[in-house]
Amino acid sequence: MERIASKQEVRQAVAEARREGKRIALVPTMGALHEGHLSLVRAASERADYVIVSVFVNPIQFGEDEDFSAYPRDLDRDTGLLDAEGADLVFMPTPDMMYASDAQVTVHPGPLGGVLEGAVRPTHFTGVCTVVSKLLSITLPDLAFFGEKDYQQLAIVRLMARDLDMPVKIVGCPIVRERDGLAFSSRNVYLSAAERAAAPVLYRALQTAEALVLDGERDGRIVADVVREAIAAEPLVVLDYAEIVDARTLEPLDAVDRAARGLVAARLGATRLIDNIALEVR
Ligand code: PAJ
Repeated sequence: MERIASKQEVRQAVAEARREGKRIALVPTMGALHEGHLSLVRAASERADYVIVSVFVNPIQFGEDEDFSAYPRDLDRDTGLLDAEGADLVFMPTPDMMYASDAQVTVHPGPLGGVLEGAVRPTHFTGVCTVVSKLLSITLPDLAFFGEKDYQQLAIVRLMARDLDMPVKIVGCPIVRERDGLAFSSRNVYLSAAERAAAPVLYRALQTAEALVLDGERDGRIVADVVREAIAAEPLVVLDYAEIVDARTLEPLDAVDRAARGLVAARLGATRLIDNIALEVR
């Protein structure tokens, strides 16, 4: 596996793979890799011949009071895991290699970037769209893989690729969870033992919503309230939002009469976690 920090060298390595007729996949990550990330690498390996994983903690998607400096970093461990998965190239630039000091152009997500996560983190999705479009321009993949864990991010990246005619197929992959249901996240390492024990309430609350909808409940406000109540029963968990939304547009649904998604965000001490679930209408 090649480990490359420079954009120029990545371009050369990808051009070589392209000359060999290989189908190229990109898996963008911020490192501190876990089973969720590795599932994307496996999905990419199944559908492509040359798998690039980027490991870059993107400064511009963190708010000023967020955890950019504290974000876990362990490149040696990450490259070991990626080697074992058979990835072909790890792209691991530094912030000044990615962003010129006088960089000024960014990619704006539009209205979908201002709701839910975007309402709490106003500059976040501009940072995500900008870095993802840069990573796509540097690596020119046929396919790019994203997790449903960050459901709003996936929806925005799909829109960006569509609206800006980016020549890439965006592939969404299912959420990977720990045994007790907590979704894998690089931020789980911040949790104290008591917070870690409380955290699975998010998935349990979402499962309650799933069961209610399967049982025929069609009032989105009732379903959202049930999720809020389930989470409120856990004193260590402070809810930011629990919403039932259209699975495609992410607009809040009063009537759950089409493909829907339950989305939650909550704080456990200083740690912010998000999770979501598909709500199937049969
Ligand atoms: P990061 O949080 O490192 O996540 C990288 C990718 O892994 C994202 O597509 C995310 O949805 C996916 N992922 C994380 N946890 C997962 C889980 N438990 N199951 C399935 N997939 C999971 O998301 C980012 O980085 C950044 O915003 C990035 C897209 C790299 C841009 O900087």
